[in-house]
Amino acid sequence: MLVCLPQVLNATELAQLCTLLAGAGAAWVDGRVTAGHQGAPVKFNQQIDEQSRVATDCQQIVVSALERNPLFISAALPNVLYPPMFNRYGEGMGFGLHVDGGVRLHPHNGSKLRTDLSATLFLSDPQSYDGGVLQMEDTYGTHSAKLAAGDMVLYPATSLHQVTPVTRGVRMACFMWVQSLVRDDAERALLFDLDTAIQRLNQTAADDIARRTLTGTYHNLLRKWSDT
Ligand code: NI
Repeated sequence: MLVCLPQVLNATELAQLCTLLAGAGAAWVDGRVTAGHQGAPVKFNQQIDEQSRVATDCQQIVVSALERNPLFISAALPNVLYPPMFNRYGEGMGFGLHVDGGVRLHPHNGSKLRTDLSATLFLSDPQSYDGGVLQMEDTYGTHSAKLAAGDMVLYPATSLHQVTPVTRGVRMACFMWVQSLVRDDAERALLFDLDTAIQRLNQTAADDIARRTLTGTYHNLLRKWSDT
């Protein structure tokens, strides 16, 4: 399931992030420092040092925005969030086809995190750069995302994906992984559809008993399929 989340960041948060990332305190390092065996040969970008103060400040802005985003909660059912990371692609940079590592070590406490979902939060105005399209493959073919600054795309971390080379300007983004309460993408998609339908029904004067039954079914499926 691929979900686009509009305006995860508001204009103030976006401006704060861009100021921090463009500031003198931002330590940009070669993106290959966190790439695995498969990713390293095809990864050409830069990212903010995960241990830096700027990274921590930027992470707080993104995490607090996600925590109050009902669409993110409903679609991802997050259990553990890998601290968001920040990258940029200048002209000629890109990231060839790869699959993200299945398990990552938390950079602060060393705990293991299963990457069920990958997310990219776009930070640059799409008009300001050419190329830099995120392409994700699934059984229905290739999907492309080049979203407005502040929008996010969420997709199964099992997907082969790439970022096409930037040919003009700079593409800056935030990316992260989520260990979901529900590891199976198909089960998570069913819960998302059911929750979305219930939320719509709750906006109407639909039958109260039927809505209660559906809500109960949602929670009983969540109980059946989740691991914590
Ligand atoms: Ni990736």
